[in-house]
Amino acid sequence: MLTFQENETLARIGPGTSTGEMMRRYWVPAMLDWELPEPDCPPIRLKLLGEELVAFRDTNGAVGIVDNYCPHRRASLFFGRNEEAGLRCVYHGWKFDVNGDCVDMPSEPAESNFKDKVKIKSYPTAEMGNVVWVYMGPPDKQPPLPELEWTQVPESHRGVNKVVQKCNWLQGLEGGIDTVHINFLHRNLQGSGIVARDRAFARSFAARVEVVPTDYGYTYAGIRDQADDNEKYVRAYHFIAPWTQLRPNQLNRGGAPRLKDSGHMWVPIDDYTTMVWNFTFSFGDEPLTEAERLQVGSGNELGKDIDFENGFKSRADASNDYFIDREVQRTQTFTGIPGTNTQDRAVQDTMGPICDRTREHLGTTDRAIIMARKILLDASRIVEDGGDPPGLGGNVFDLRSVEKVLPTDVYWRDALWDELYHKAQYTPEFVRA
Ligand code: FES
Ligand SMILES: [Fe+2]
Repeated sequence: MLTFQENETLARIGPGTSTGEMMRRYWVPAMLDWELPEPDCPPIRLKLLGEELVAFRDTNGAVGIVDNYCPHRRASLFFGRNEEAGLRCVYHGWKFDVNGDCVDMPSEPAESNFKDKVKIKSYPTAEMGNVVWVYMGPPDKQPPLPELEWTQVPESHRGVNKVVQKCNWLQGLEGGIDTVHINFLHRNLQGSGIVARDRAFARSFAARVEVVPTDYGYTYAGIRDQADDNEKYVRAYHFIAPWTQLRPNQLNRGGAPRLKDSGHMWVPIDDYTTMVWNFTFSFGDEPLTEAERLQVGSGNELGKDIDFENGFKSRADASNDYFIDREVQRTQTFTGIPGTNTQDRAVQDTMGPICDRTREHLGTTDRAIIMARKILLDASRIVEDGGDPPGLGGNVFDLRSVEKVLPTDVYWRDALWDELYHKAQYTPEFVRA
């Protein structure tokens, strides 16, 4: 449970808000690189952290992200002409480059130097991992790019897409962190076909959740005893402040384990809408299969589940009850809703635009959610006090998540150490501090 004020503080992300200012200290995933496929292509509208923006790729290939509103008389630059290394407002012809400088002002006398005094709000951008990233914070605080492993592997080894969720960002994040719901919300009544999971779920639905705070957020695990008494199935994850989760994705139906991880980023569009980024990647020699790259079955397939030509909306939404099929629910799956992440959206969106956390009742398995809220509230206070929030760089970039069956008597984090902190310069003492 949170107080009303704590809930408001975590949920509100616009300029000047506590959480919004904290989030502006990170690189923000803004769009997929192919949304701006070539120099001088049409600009696109973009809303991030409550700010209305326009993105364009200039003649030189550089991406500019600028205010939607022209500083002259506030026309939308979405209608702008993208030409000769700048975006020209169609109202009176003022033209701005990717740095926000006004490079032409044909409506004023030639001898006027007014254009040298006018700038449009613009933010630094970078392209990495098929994503355009933007930094919206104070210029002197710009951190290194978030070079998580999924952004660094070859394109053949990566799948990344995004989908709009119609609720506040924290509902998405908390839903992703919550490992216990997979036994229920995502259950196939005939079993998942993934032996380790099915043996664990056959024994018990109540996972033990253990959370270990770190300097970037935390490592945590859902631990489930197997059907026999001497093994346990461990799903070990990372939460990287403020909005990233790495989740294990190595076990397959029937096949050998894959060297593969996945994750999400829950990035606020505004207080009531979230862009959920979904990534998956291979960290072995093998590239992803086409089905893995497209994230088939996730509810996040572009074109099929996600209407990417219409603002990356989920085709399943509250207006069609997320395509629930009551006969399927009776006989095949726990929800009757097709697509794993569609099931997530169904429960998270319908908690309300901003969940009323003054009225919830959290149990022991909500430990990770409680810790995330604390870390985020602390991070905002740190930023307000002039400090740096967690997870800005360094050894964050070499983390992996893991799922494995382990003997009951070993401690999961010791057993999985080398995989969880792959190449990272962590010592056991440090992480346990
Ligand atoms: S409103 Fe953009 S040039 Fe006048
Ligand atoms: Fe889920």
